[in-house]
Amino acid sequence: MDVDLKRLYTLTLQECSGPCDDGRIGRAQKFFHSLHIVAVRPPVEIGDRAVNGWEYLVKVTAGTKTTRLGQGMDHDIAKPHDRLAAWLAQDMVAVNALIHARMVSEHAPRIPEVTDHLINAGGKRLRPLLTLAAARLCGYEGPYHVHLAATVEFIHTATLLHDDVVDESERRRGRKTANILWNNQTAVLVGDYLFSRSFQLMVETGSLRVLDILANASATIAEGEVLQLTAAQDLGTTEAVYLQVVRGKTAALFSAATEVGGVIAGAPEDRVRALFAYGDALGVAFQIVDDLLDYGGTAQAIGKNPGDDFRERKLTLPLIKAVAKADAEERAFWQRTIAKGDQREGDLEQALAIMARHGAMEAARADALAWAAKARTALEPLPEHRLRIALQDLADYVVSRVN
Ligand code: IPE
Ligand code: IPE
Ligand code: MG
Ligand code: MG
Repeated sequence: MDVDLKRLYTLTLQECSGPCDDGRIGRAQKFFHSLHIVAVRPPVEIGDRAVNGWEYLVKVTAGTKTTRLGQGMDHDIAKPHDRLAAWLAQDMVAVNALIHARMVSEHAPRIPEVTDHLINAGGKRLRPLLTLAAARLCGYEGPYHVHLAATVEFIHTATLLHDDVVDESERRRGRKTANILWNNQTAVLVGDYLFSRSFQLMVETGSLRVLDILANASATIAEGEVLQLTAAQDLGTTEAVYLQVVRGKTAALFSAATEVGGVIAGAPEDRVRALFAYGDALGVAFQIVDDLLDYGGTAQAIGKNPGDDFRERKLTLPLIKAVAKADAEERAFWQRTIAKGDQREGDLEQALAIMARHGAMEAARADALAWAAKARTALEPLPEHRLRIALQDLADYVVSRVN
C-alpha cells in the first residue's frame, strides 16, 4: 500500500486540532501512532486539478473505531515541531514500533500495564525527533538513529516515572501518574526497567561513543534532580544554581539526543559540537518555559497540575527573580510559604501577584528567549537544509509553546 506518511501526519493534525489547540501535539502524536491504515485513496483529479486530498481509511489500534481521514488539501504546516514530525514520520513509525516492542516484559505483567499507560498517553516525542533530525541532517542513511531515538525516549520516560515519585505529582500527559494509579514502588521499578531497556537499545548500535554520551547524560540527569532536591526550600538559591539544575535534569538529555544523532552519522567534530550546543541551549529554554507554565498554564494545556512547583517549594526561575527583589513583607511571605512550607488558601494567587509586581515572569521569559537565540545560532555550522531551519525555528517555538 502506497502510504504518504507525511500527508497522513498532516491529516492527523487536522483531526486533532481542538478549538483552543490545547495539548494538540501530544494528541496528534498519540493518534498518529495508534493508527492502522486499512485503505488509501489517492486524490480525485478533474483535469489537472486535484479536487480533494488523499484519503486514508484508518483503524485506531486501541479501540474498534474506524475512521476516514482525508479530504484535506496539502496544507502548509506552520509549526516547526509538526514540520519535523511530518518529514520524519517514516522514521518515527519505526521508532514507535521499536518502543512498543521493547517496553513489554514476558515475566512481569505489571510492566506493560504501566508502560502502556504512560507511553500510549502521547507525549510530544520531542527528544526522539531531535535525534532523528540531527542524524538525517548529517546525512545518515543507516538504521541506528531509530535505536537512538527510542533510547532517548526510554530514558525520558524513565526519568518522568521517577520524577513524579520525587515530586509527588498526580498528573502527567493528561492522565493520573503511575505513582497514584499503582504506587511509588511500581513507578520506581518500572522506571529502572525502562532505563535498562534503553541501555540494551544503545548497545545494539555498536558505538562506544554513543554509549559514553548517553551514559553520561543519564548520570547528569540524576545529578540535576538531586541538586534540585537539596536546593528546594532554600531562598538563597541563585540563578546560577538553577541553571546548573536545569542543565542537568533537562538539557543533558536534549544535548545528548542531538549529539548522538551527529555521532551516529559520522559527522565532523565541529558539527557534533554544534549539535550538542544547540540541544543544551534548547533544553534550558524548554525547562524555563516549563517552569513558567507551572505558574501560568492550565491543567488541560500542560497535562499536569499547575502550581506543583509552588506547593513543592521549588525555587524555579520566576520565583528566584521575585525573591531577589522582595521587600520585607514579601520576604516574610516567601519565608513562610517556601522556607517553612506553611501554605494556606490563596497563597498561590498571592505568589503570582508578587511575581507580577516584579515582572518576574517576563524576565524569565526574556531569559528563555535568549537561550532560544543561542540555540538558533549554535546550528549555523550545519549545512543549509530544511531540517536545520525547522530545528532553528523549534527553538523560538518552545518559548511560545502551550505544551
Ligand atoms: C517533561 O518533558 C519534562 C521536562 C523536561 C519539563 P516534555 O514536556 O517533553 O514531556 P512529554 O514527553 O511531552 O510528556
Ligand atoms: C522534569 O522536571 C523531569 C526531568 C527533567 C527529569 P520537572 O519536575 O521540573 O518537570 P515536570 O513539571 O514534572 O514535567
Ligand atoms: Mg516533576
Ligand atoms: Mg521534578
